[in-house]
Amino acid sequence: MPTSSILEPPPTASHVAPHAPLDRYYGEEAKRHRYVVDLFNQSAPHYNTIEKMFFNIGLWYRGFSLKRAGLRPGMRVLDVAMGTGAVARNAARLVGPSGRVFGVDPSIGMIREAQKVFAGPVTRGIAGHLPFRGDQFDFLTMGIALRHVADLGETFREYFRVLKPGGTVWILEAHVPPKGLGHWFTKMMWGRVIPGMTLLATRSQPAKLLMDYYWDTIDQAASRETVMDTLMAAGFERPTYRMAHPVCEFVARKPSPSS
Ligand SMILES: C[S@@+](CC[C@H](N)C(=O)[O-])C[C@H]1O[C@@H](n2cnc3c(N)ncnc32)[C@H](O)[C@@H]1O
Repeated sequence: MPTSSILEPPPTASHVAPHAPLDRYYGEEAKRHRYVVDLFNQSAPHYNTIEKMFFNIGLWYRGFSLKRAGLRPGMRVLDVAMGTGAVARNAARLVGPSGRVFGVDPSIGMIREAQKVFAGPVTRGIAGHLPFRGDQFDFLTMGIALRHVADLGETFREYFRVLKPGGTVWILEAHVPPKGLGHWFTKMMWGRVIPGMTLLATRSQPAKLLMDYYWDTIDQAASRETVMDTLMAAGFERPTYRMAHPVCEFVARKPSPSS
């Protein structure tokens, strides 16, 4: 049974921030979403270069993790924050011709990149207000994007709404150990090495800024316990997490009448 973090108050039905404020980037909270989408729009042509710097291990890992979480042929999937399609293209392969994968993302630049590798339906939208009717999907996925939503509670309630009873939510998120050598090493990699390599490989200041911003949001992200507690508060049952440094996977189910 997950426990609430002693560092953060337990989530309530109201606002649960995905990370501590980072005003030095976007000024004030009201400007955060626009700032993030602009940054993704400007960095979109370089996003896959960054993935390739790591030999596309992340792309392979997403497919491996989705299969392990129960994604099967024939399922109807919603990939939220699809970005350049790293999760959606893996999901499409796993559900096969009898299944269907829908993508949603607020960044037109990222959607354009996704459409080079993903042929399914794509809609512009945000996690907290999904443009879909309820009880539609067997599986809902979100890869490395939870830190960008406005409110974890609102987001998970939306995920619960659009999933069919018995449906699965799968969330892959970056993770940094809170202290010790693991923290120091992750900080060195995400905070220094990756932004530096990104600038060298892409010559793009926005792409480097995106990586700087990544590190700060990862460092300041809501705790694993907060994510687990907020999933349960939204109605999900049996949430689990699995660490695979430098990422953490959350999987939970919407109760079905028989459960
Ligand atoms: C790091 S990319 C992740 C892309 C892909 N899911 C992956 O696994 O590589 C983050 C994506 O989140 C999207 N995003 C930002 N704010 C969002 C929000 N409030 N709701 C949904 N997606 C959002 C961005 O446009 C961007 O495409």
